[in-house]
Amino acid sequence: MKDVDNWYYSDKVKEHFLKPKNFLEKEPKKGEFDAYGEAGSVVCGDIMKVWLKIDKKTERVKKFKWQTWGCASAIAATSMFSVMVTEKGGIKIKDALKITPKDIITRLHGLPPQKVHCSVLADQAFKKAIDNYYGGRV
Ligand code: FES
Repeated sequence: MKDVDNWYYSDKVKEHFLKPKNFLEKEPKKGEFDAYGEAGSVVCGDIMKVWLKIDKKTERVKKFKWQTWGCASAIAATSMFSVMVTEKGGIKIKDALKITPKDIITRLHGLPPQKVHCSVLADQAFKKAIDNYYGGRV
C-alpha cells in the first residue's frame, strides 16, 4: 500500500479543521488566563500556544484556548482536545493529563499515520501550561 492510500481525513477531522473550537483570535489581556504553555514540533517546526483558565478550588479546566501555525491535523486535534478537557463543566487537571494523543485521534475517528505527530502538540503545550500553573508562572 502506498502512503497516499492512507491519506484520509474523517468527517470529524474536517468538522474541527473547518470550524475549530476554542481558537483564540485576539492576543489575551494580562491576567485573562491562569496559565500559558507552548510546544513545538521537531518534525515540522510548527508551534502550539495554549492558554488555560483553571477553577482553583475544584482544579477543573474551565477554558482551553489555543493558537497554532500547525497544519489541518494539528488544528483538528487541538480543537478536539480543547473540547475534551472542557466538556461537562471542565475535567480535573489530573484527568486531563491522562488524555493521550491516541485518545484524541480516536475521538477524531482517525488521522493519517503521517499526521500523528501533529496531534501531540496540544497535549505537550497543555502539559507545559500545567507545569507553569503549578510553578506559579502565568
Ligand atoms: Fe506541523 Fe502538522 S505538519 S503540525
